[in-house]
Parts: sequence; structure tokens; C-alpha cells
Amino acid sequence: MNICSDRLNQVIKTVESAGNTAMKFFCSPELKKSFKSKCDLVTEADTTVEKMLLESLKTVDNIGFLSEEFNPETGLAKPCWIIDPIDGTTNFVAGIAPFAISIAHFDGGKVDFAVCFLPVTNEMFSAEAGKGAWLNGEKIHVNADSSAINCVGATGFADITQHGGTGTLPVFCNMVQKTRAMRRLGSAVTDLVYTACGKFAFFYEAGLSPWDVAAGSLIVKEAGGIVTDFSGGNDYILGKTIIASNPQMYDFVRNEIEISLKQRLFI
Ligand code: IPD
Ligand code: CA
Repeated sequence: MNICSDRLNQVIKTVESAGNTAMKFFCSPELKKSFKSKCDLVTEADTTVEKMLLESLKTVDNIGFLSEEFNPETGLAKPCWIIDPIDGTTNFVAGIAPFAISIAHFDGGKVDFAVCFLPVTNEMFSAEAGKGAWLNGEKIHVNADSSAINCVGATGFADITQHGGTGTLPVFCNMVQKTRAMRRLGSAVTDLVYTACGKFAFFYEAGLSPWDVAAGSLIVKEAGGIVTDFSGGNDYILGKTIIASNPQMYDFVRNEIEISLKQRLFI
């Protein structure tokens, strides 16, 4: 059973309530939506849930916010909450799962606890630095897949959505040929927590924002996974590239990314 700190418990309760609110908008024909940019949707669910979280998290720890809809420019110089109110907004607008609510507590130096909630499947992921990771109160661990052909991996194409071009498509083409299967769920938060609990052996993506990866990356690490940027460093929250993998497959993923991007397959 997950004996977690009082603050983590308070955040879990807050996120459960935010999930109930999000579900009231899910699949609603009256859902109001607009475009922040050419491909970046925002809905009244995103803004309503984020406003709820900004209010309630202040009572847990009255620090700053780095949040997708109302505080996207905050840096990581001071302690703050890192929030994605609805990760997978395109899925949400289409009325398909998954979507996730993601909260990370940044203590000024590292993410020290995190919660990711998938309301449609009622999956509450949480982690505390140095204490482990849990799904609905039960300890979780990355899987032990050790050969590419037996692996299911996940990715997304944030880089292409934002900048056009082929982005990491060359990596995807190679991965599809070398693994059992590749999945693109449309929610980077879900990709990360599903790697943490062993549904996926690995996940990688370029072009994500801090709120997409801050919480899920701690959950993967606390579940025994390896999380780096594409060059093997620790700049995966602000640095726009992330690999999250079980230990056995990490080198394969990192090498495939390096080789494929050098090849620059003309797709
Ligand atoms: C998106 C999802 C998607 C990723 C996009 C993100 P959002 O989050 O995580 O999987 O590929 O780049 O923007 O915008 O729906 O919160
Ligand atoms: Ca979002």
C-alpha cells in the first residue's frame, strides 16, 4: 500500500476532483474550443480545470505555477507547481481516450513529487522522489523486455506539429520495423505513465513542453526506468527531447534515435 506524504495525498484528492470536472466536459457536444496556434487546441475544459488546480494547489503549497494555459512562460528558477490540466486535448475534443491531468511539485532543484490521473480509465499514478511510484496505491515497475522485437514502444510528433518537416519520423520508421509495435496515443503524459507501469517498454518524443513531461518523468524514474534527453543528459523538462525507457532497452532507443536522425530518411 502506498504510504505517501500528506501533501501527495492532498494533491491526489485535488486531482480526483479535477478529473470529475473534466469528465463533465468530455464528449459534450457543447464543448467550447479554440486554437492557440495552428495545431494547438484549447477548450473550456483545459481552462476550467487549470483554474481549479491553481486555486486548490495554493492551499497545499503556496508557491508559483508553470502551467500550460495561464502561466506558460514561468521558468524553473524557483519552487513551483508544473501543471498540464488536460494532456491530450486533441483526443479530448475528438471524444477519445486517453487524456490525463498532470501535476508536478518542483522544489527549486528537482521534481520531488508528482501525480498523473487518467479519468476515463480511473488510473491514478503518483510518485515521491526516493520513495517509489504507484498506480491506484499499488507499487509499479517498468517491464523487463530486453529484445526490440518483443517491445511495444510509444512516441508522438510534437516536433512536426510545431515546426513541420519530418522531425523524428525517420526514428519511427526504423522503430516500426524493429519492434513488436509502436503506439502514438496522443497524450505524452499517458505514454510516460504507461512506460512506468510496464505497458510500454519505452517512450521518446521531441518538441514537448515542461508540463507534458515533468510529472511523468519522475513516475518513470521512481518505477525503475531511465529518463534522459536525446543526448543522454538531464535536460528533458526544458530541453524539448525525452527518452523514457526500461533499463534493458535504453541503449537501443538512444542509438536508434541517433542513427535514424543522422540518416535523415527522405520520407
Ligand atoms: C499534447 C500531447 C501529445 C503531444 C503534443 C502535446 P496537449 O499535449 O501530449 O501527445 O504529442 O505535443 O502538446 O497539448 O494535449 O496538452
Ligand atoms: Ca495540455
